[in-house]
Amino acid sequence: MMPQPQLFTPIRIGDLTLDNRIIIAPMCQYSAREGSAGDWHMIHLGQLAISGAGMLILEATAVSPAGRITPWDLGLYSDANEHALARVLQALRAHSPIKIGMQLAHAGRKASSRAPWDGGAQIHSGEPLGWHAFAPSAVPHAPNEDPPIALDDSALQRVRSEFANAARRAARLGLDGIEIHAAHGYLLHQFLSPLANHRTDAYGGSLENRMRFVLEVFDVVREAFPADKPVWARISATDWVPGGWDIEGTLALSQALKARGCAAIHVSSGGVSPQQQIKLGPGYQVPYAQRVKAEVGLPTIAVGLITDAQQAEAIIANGEADAVSLARAMLYDPRWPWHAAATLGAQVKAPHQYWRSQPRELKDLFENAKFGAR
Ligand SMILES: Cc1cc2nc3c(=O)[nH]c(=O)nc-3n(C[C@H](O)[C@H](O)[C@H](O)COP(=O)(O)O)c2cc1C
Repeated sequence: MMPQPQLFTPIRIGDLTLDNRIIIAPMCQYSAREGSAGDWHMIHLGQLAISGAGMLILEATAVSPAGRITPWDLGLYSDANEHALARVLQALRAHSPIKIGMQLAHAGRKASSRAPWDGGAQIHSGEPLGWHAFAPSAVPHAPNEDPPIALDDSALQRVRSEFANAARRAARLGLDGIEIHAAHGYLLHQFLSPLANHRTDAYGGSLENRMRFVLEVFDVVREAFPADKPVWARISATDWVPGGWDIEGTLALSQALKARGCAAIHVSSGGVSPQQQIKLGPGYQVPYAQRVKAEVGLPTIAVGLITDAQQAEAIIANGEADAVSLARAMLYDPRWPWHAAATLGAQVKAPHQYWRSQPRELKDLFENAKFGAR
């Protein structure tokens, strides 16, 4: 057996060890009912769980009904939500050893939206299924939208408690880790970005003040989740708008999170302003991950247009990031990790029911694969 390529070496995120460095990025499905997972989640997560990836991160999961992006977002704010997810997780665990993380989220001013396939526009609070969104400041995401309600001190306390409660439910569900969603223009990112945060209290103005709420949320989640399981954050490294949140802020926030016990940084970008000018291209966010890894030293996950096995291997082998996460490529090809292992000459876990599919010329592709008949 050749030595495993770097992409297929284990990685530790806090005390959690992943078999390889391929992570399935969180992906909203807009298919829950009142926040509860259903059969679509069983089908969707089921296929991803047998993909051979090192970890599956569940979609943005709202900590409150008001924190959902759309009325169909997954949530973890009620006993019904917890029971519905327990059923799905039990099935995944019965058939796959994959590590399962959850992304805890609050949409802030981007709440009360239509699903992408219905155009994704704001549902006004007076319309059926719509509600009034909350945010750091009463500044709408886009000029023609209803402004959100600025969170006052008691509302901030409520949101912190909602994150903590959801983290306790995630602990009861036995999730392996929590990713705090502080990216893509949702509530926590809205606090970070001067484009969305116009506050004049202790939560606005200076970088230190804008980081305060994110760090407070990190602390309550960290406190509510078992100490031996990792909590980490997803951050937008830049708003792609002059005068917005940027890589310097990202580095400062990552350092502050590290000091509080954050286990990793998942480096994405954008989402806070319709004025963003994103420079898209293969691996376009990897240079930001590289800076976080080099300057902060936490395990760093790169994401964004990573689609090719050699590209992913080079990112790890060159030390640009510690792990890669893939979203669209995993939907397009849910066996991406198998195919990457085949391309790179690595081994990957596959369910024994599928071992017979191992190509003749790849005798070592599936770990421990053997089959006989009489
Ligand atoms: C269908 C879909 C749903 C997504 N939902 C989420 C989400 O719930 N949370 C999140 O942080 N990012 C979400 N994203 C962004 C992805 O996690 C990822 O950062 C982005 O798609 C870039 O990676 P890719 O080029 O591998 O697709 C979503 C992307 C897609 C395509």
